Amino acid sequence: MIRENIFLQFLLILLALIFVGCEEQVPEETEYDPDRIDQHLAAQVNFSEPYRPQFHYSPKINWMNDPNGLVYNDGVYHLFHQYNPFGNRWGYMSWGHATSTDLVHWDHKAVAIPYGKEEEEGIFSGSAVVDHQNTSGFGDGGDPPIVAIYTSHYTREDGSTDQAQSLAYSIDGGQTFTKFEGNPVLEFDDPDFRDPNVSWNEEMGRWLMVVALPTQHKVQFYASDNLKDWEYLSDFGPAGATGGIWECPDFFRLPVDDNPENQKWVLHVDMNPGSVAGGSGSQYFVGEWDGTSFIPDETFMETAPHWTDYGTDFYAAISWNNIPEEDARQLWVGWMNNWDYANEIPTHPWRSAMSIPRSIHLESNNESYSLVQKPVESLRQLREDPVRLENLDLSDETIDLSQEGISGKAFEMIVEIEPGDAESVGINVREAENQRTVIGYNSVNQNVFADRTNSGESDFFEGFEQRNDVPVHLSDGTVKIRFFVDWSSVEVFVNDGSRVITNRIFPDPESIGVSAFADGGSATITNIEFWPLESIWTETALQ
Ligand code: FRU
Repeated sequence: MIRENIFLQFLLILLALIFVGCEEQVPEETEYDPDRIDQHLAAQVNFSEPYRPQFHYSPKINWMNDPNGLVYNDGVYHLFHQYNPFGNRWGYMSWGHATSTDLVHWDHKAVAIPYGKEEEEGIFSGSAVVDHQNTSGFGDGGDPPIVAIYTSHYTREDGSTDQAQSLAYSIDGGQTFTKFEGNPVLEFDDPDFRDPNVSWNEEMGRWLMVVALPTQHKVQFYASDNLKDWEYLSDFGPAGATGGIWECPDFFRLPVDDNPENQKWVLHVDMNPGSVAGGSGSQYFVGEWDGTSFIPDETFMETAPHWTDYGTDFYAAISWNNIPEEDARQLWVGWMNNWDYANEIPTHPWRSAMSIPRSIHLESNNESYSLVQKPVESLRQLREDPVRLENLDLSDETIDLSQEGISGKAFEMIVEIEPGDAESVGINVREAENQRTVIGYNSVNQNVFADRTNSGESDFFEGFEQRNDVPVHLSDGTVKIRFFVDWSSVEVFVNDGSRVITNRIFPDPESIGVSAFADGGSATITNIEFWPLESIWTETALQ
């Protein structure tokens, strides 16, 4: 009996020791150690941590920022991104990697282009192309090479930094990359010179690069026959909003109102800080490309700046290269974060998520143009059983929709609102007694708004509690709002995507209520459609 007790005690102590060992905390910041990969931490991740997005891409562990090298190849959408393999804050910039065949479900891959320790080379943002004609000579006679064009961010011995454009290529379909030994391929007399965005320009029969001179509020255009030798073409800027540095340009052509006979060029440029919702954000220009320069449309410029997204958390979006002609969609994804607080958001052991991928379109209005964003259609596969309601009349009241089966932490909702004489009408989401995020229409200011002043955790950044408004015209007295709510975000698409608000929120996991309200008068929500959305993080995805 005594012997049994001693044995039992020994067993308990052993179990306790094993348990303590498993609980060992990995420090947030780790020293640069390329051999230490946080496999044990990654293995503990199950994508059900508080605030973990359920249908947005996020890395298993560690810090992420801008999408990089978005390229479609052989049925696979590649999503490379700024990544710190060694910690949960910005640092040791490398290209992380994920792939998808439907832009909804993602497979996490090994780091594609690692930080260069020897030369202290940060692998900053850039793009990737499929070099079908092997113009670069990197191909080995098999499948065409995928060539990444990125910014080398060098830290010199005296602590100063410098930036230049470099290449890395893959001859195994984007799984592994080799840095080009002739790097860098493009230098310029400015230590801030980054984020090369390259695409094949059909008319020129050449590669075209747009690259930022951040502190000069300019972009430059270059052309090349082989991706290695670049010819300077022109500058664009300063123009539009110049209150912050310019980063991450993208340049592409879109049909106006889906008419392939009428095409315009769109220059997309990010700015930090000073954007429409504070901190980092994006603007765009519409115009012509004459083979050398971008010429913005005059009427369009009269109402500049034009913001891509009126929320706080949509930055550094670039579009996928090499989408097949028969598909013809222009697709992009943005970093769902803001440099004002990106390093402080309360998530662990990862930081940041991407927006949902969107197709982009150009609409004409009053002799001018506006960019339209629509969630990719393939997201519909996540919809579970719908709830539909009609003609909900609201008179200075709030109606709990939970009884109708409308509640949750991850869902899509479409509402059509006739504001009537109400001052404000809309939907509260992620709601609890003292917490809610409000999405609605305000008749006094004629705005659609997303209000996160009381949405949950916010003490990591002083200005986090804010409300974002976007001017909207009613059509036939109605506004249509489609929004996607996830465990730590809302994305609001107004009138089929003609205006967008993307915001991070950090509500309590218990805040799952949804209600409809009208203040200061009577309004009708003529249609409500609601779908819970299935998580993309199935067991297979997490292996
Ligand atoms: C934009 C940015 C880019 C740069 C990268 C570094 O978010 O500042 O200009 O290449 O992040 O991580």
